[in-house]
Amino acid sequence: MKVTVSDIKADVGSLAGHVKPHIRQIKAAERVLEEGVKSGTIYDYQVSRVGDDIHLVMLHGSGEEASEVHRLAWDAFRAATEEAKKLGLYAAGQDLLKDAFSGNVKGMGPGVAEMEFEERRAEPVVIFMADKTSPSAFNLPLVRIYADPFYTSGLVIDERMHSGFYIDVLDQKEGEVYRFNLPEELYDMLALVGDVVRFSIKRVVSKDESIGTAAVVSAERLSHIAGKYVGKDDPVAIARGQSGLPAVGELLQPFMFPHLVPGWMRGSHVGPLYPCSVNDSNPTFFDGPPRVVAIGMMVKDKSFVGEEENPAPGHHVPVDYFAGKEFDYARNLAMQIAVYMRSHGPIMFERLPEEEMEYTTLKSVLERVLKGKRR
Ligand code: 13P
Ligand code: 13P
Ligand code: MG
Ligand code: MG
Repeated sequence: MKVTVSDIKADVGSLAGHVKPHIRQIKAAERVLEEGVKSGTIYDYQVSRVGDDIHLVMLHGSGEEASEVHRLAWDAFRAATEEAKKLGLYAAGQDLLKDAFSGNVKGMGPGVAEMEFEERRAEPVVIFMADKTSPSAFNLPLVRIYADPFYTSGLVIDERMHSGFYIDVLDQKEGEVYRFNLPEELYDMLALVGDVVRFSIKRVVSKDESIGTAAVVSAERLSHIAGKYVGKDDPVAIARGQSGLPAVGELLQPFMFPHLVPGWMRGSHVGPLYPCSVNDSNPTFFDGPPRVVAIGMMVKDKSFVGEEENPAPGHHVPVDYFAGKEFDYARNLAMQIAVYMRSHGPIMFERLPEEEMEYTTLKSVLERVLKGKRR
């Protein structure tokens, strides 16, 4: 049976800074998705969050870019925005850039990662939700997972992965997508994805056609869509695991290294990617450091399955992978790096180059200073 997993996410207002959604926003989104289950638009769902971003993880049979599923997500974010407005939350409706839905949420603000696949006998799915950074934050871990045998042993010792993967890369400036055949074209691909300002890995595809898509990233730049900066395009990546794909442990391992990503305070800095649990994902140090949370569920027929005793739509208990003490190692290292980076204050490269800064009016500051101080 073919199913589609869609994660449509947005920041539609948050509590006391860019920290976390209010529970009433989450409940409002859940009520809309519940109706979506009743009406048959989706089979199942789970609402989650990282930092101030609400993630609507949905299971359905309508394929990628299905307008009825996108509309449902849009309605859920509208409902959550209403709550944000009532409560006077910060930046209510931030990522909803249009007033009326027009067929597809792409280009309307929310981030979208979705993949349709033929369900295997056992189908573990891991959702990586990141806050205070951009889709290119996944470039480094995805290269390690799908193209580095020193990370993914399966590339060497599992016959089904031995021939490698295809990786699609989005040029966020021009909008073109490039496909690379890994491992043969690894160096060519790295020439692009090493530039985390311009290029983002968008999709990974198994060379085994019966498996299909291995991973997807919400690689659309909100700021480019809007024509001006309105919020950060905090990304999500979805990856399937096991049985011809990287084992879940291979998917998680690269996050033990808190690599530097663009984002953090005002979307204008460089900080380490801090792996943590959902509950620990409130960005509190200089609105960060940038966070990544990984949750896992099985897909079984028309349901998600988590740790709950009786799976019911919307009431799952996903595995929260980075909650464990193992990842204290990465968190401690990340905090050392975070403090080190912050010690540079406003001096690059802790601060991003001007053209890459997001939530800023530095341009007018510069104009005024350059004009007024010339001698
Ligand atoms: P304000 O303009 O509300 O201070 O926003 C700044 C900010 O939070 C950017 O992240
Ligand atoms: P978000 O993109 O998570 O809303 O954060 C905005 C920001 O600038 C925080 O400093
Ligand atoms: Mg926010
Ligand atoms: Mg956010």
